[in-house]
Amino acid sequence: MKLILVLTVTIKLAIVSATDTEWWKTALIYQIYPRSFKDSDGDGIGDLTGIKEKLPYLKSTGVDGIWLSPIYLSPMRDFGYDITDYKQIAPEYGTMKDFQELLKEARKLGLRVILDFVPNHTSNESDWFIRSARREPGYEDFYVWADGIVDPERPGEVLPPSNWVSHFRRSMWEYHPGRGQYYLHQFAIGQPDLNYRSQRVQAEMKEVLRFWLDLGVSGFRVDAINKLYEVDPNDYGGVYPDEPLSGISDTDPDDYEYYDHIFTQDLAETYEVVFDWREVLDEYTETHGEYKIMMTEAYTNLFNTILYYGNENRDGAIPFNFIFLEEINKNSTARDIKTTIDKWMTYMPHGRVANWVNGNHDQSRLASRQGPERVDAMNMLALMLPGVALTYQGEEIGMTDGHVSWEDTKDPQACNTDDPINYWKKSRDPSRTPYHWDSSVFAGFTCGVEPWLPVADNYKELNLQVQLRSRRSHYNFYKDVVAVRKTAASKYGDLGILAYTEDILVVTRLLPNARGIVGVINLSNKPQLVDLSSVTLLPKYLKVVASGVNCTQTKGFILLKDYIIVSNNCALLLQTISRCC
Ligand code: GLC
Ligand code: MG
Repeated sequence: MKLILVLTVTIKLAIVSATDTEWWKTALIYQIYPRSFKDSDGDGIGDLTGIKEKLPYLKSTGVDGIWLSPIYLSPMRDFGYDITDYKQIAPEYGTMKDFQELLKEARKLGLRVILDFVPNHTSNESDWFIRSARREPGYEDFYVWADGIVDPERPGEVLPPSNWVSHFRRSMWEYHPGRGQYYLHQFAIGQPDLNYRSQRVQAEMKEVLRFWLDLGVSGFRVDAINKLYEVDPNDYGGVYPDEPLSGISDTDPDDYEYYDHIFTQDLAETYEVVFDWREVLDEYTETHGEYKIMMTEAYTNLFNTILYYGNENRDGAIPFNFIFLEEINKNSTARDIKTTIDKWMTYMPHGRVANWVNGNHDQSRLASRQGPERVDAMNMLALMLPGVALTYQGEEIGMTDGHVSWEDTKDPQACNTDDPINYWKKSRDPSRTPYHWDSSVFAGFTCGVEPWLPVADNYKELNLQVQLRSRRSHYNFYKDVVAVRKTAASKYGDLGILAYTEDILVVTRLLPNARGIVGVINLSNKPQLVDLSSVTLLPKYLKVVASGVNCTQTKGFILLKDYIIVSNNCALLLQTISRCC
């Protein structure tokens, strides 16, 4: 009897300790844009088998998990962010079997797979939309439908229900002749918004989460979350109220930026839905032995962003921190960078997990946005600050925006400008060009036909293979910093940030025993001498553990804390050592 009791207790303990509830708090997540990562079958479009082939390489880089931009069945009007069926794989990316093999291989390597969850809208080719347009019982209110307004000037004609304009330009309302009503689309015409005031929609979307969780994914990145709700016309006398003008110059009435979107984003109802999804994910923690991560995408102000974290009563998600994308540019000083980091750390609710984003498939690339000389610095910051680090494919080698002509342009956001001259200002294609694997034709992305987007011109000099072979490269620096990321100081060390001058930024992560790591960044074009005597906790000797492409020191060099020479645009990662030599 006693023995049985002991046994059950031990087994229970074993189960509890097998549940990894911590991994996500310091995870390095690598974003893959499947269409442009690796093409295995020569059709010029990246695919799941291509990703699977590269998993061992990603593991060797040291990433903890991969987030795949949408891989589901889709007419690709917005390259997968317009989903026909949430439970099917796009044939150009592979089959469900390919996906399961990818998962299996990832699990074998200890890599986690995170999927993109696109809850705000489906494709207009989805079965739900077709049924809703037909007013099939149970589906009538799956989308946001509204009658038009009678045109006072042309009786018999109708106008859209409100002045709302979509992200991709022009009315957010599209007339559907079959139903005789308008439907709402925050993005492209082919992306009708689901109606979250319908309980059935809410239930169906939870089923989508469960479907992929059951297959074994480790969590989700949630797309365009703050667009989930629009105001309820019942609160406005039965009509959809017009949005006020933003007053932003250099925009026209068809532009999204022309309006102040007070009725179509950041509504309070949104947060409860996220908290409900968190509960669904939590159902799996015990049975799957791991905490399931959820990261939300919302381009909004800091106040609205941090609300996604949750509150005393309900747990939420990790809201993407876009502060580096929005507030840091080529000219930012060390003081500016410190201020932005402090801002996130200050507003983030206590005890929550921070995160750092340097790029994604919607943004100009890090090397183009901030200049190639800042690639190592920004990568190092994201990797050594507390919390989750996100790397968009190609940022680890410092890829630049590719040139995509108007003729080759695919992004609906650019195509909708109808402007062959200025389209590039809106285009997201430049950061979506194929990954540069090597110097061979099409950068080793495909062995077949012309890729779906042109390969950037500089691939022969700027590619992974060249960087793997050279002693100093963005990739080798990145990998060295990732290795240090696995140490206790990098995971748990207290954060210290010192804007030593306008040009020199120093970041420390120190443990109570004063062991830890120090990042030193020189943002200027001249070498500088840094004396860290004022960081009293810091021991006297420091060892170089990662040295950026512009630095003079090599790995293993021992430096004195009061005499560190940092060459122009150099990012150095140092580790404390107890004594010299
Ligand atoms: C998100 C995606 C973007 C997409 C949009 C609509 O912002 O990142 O690529 O176009 O949502 O789904
Ligand atoms: Mg392919």
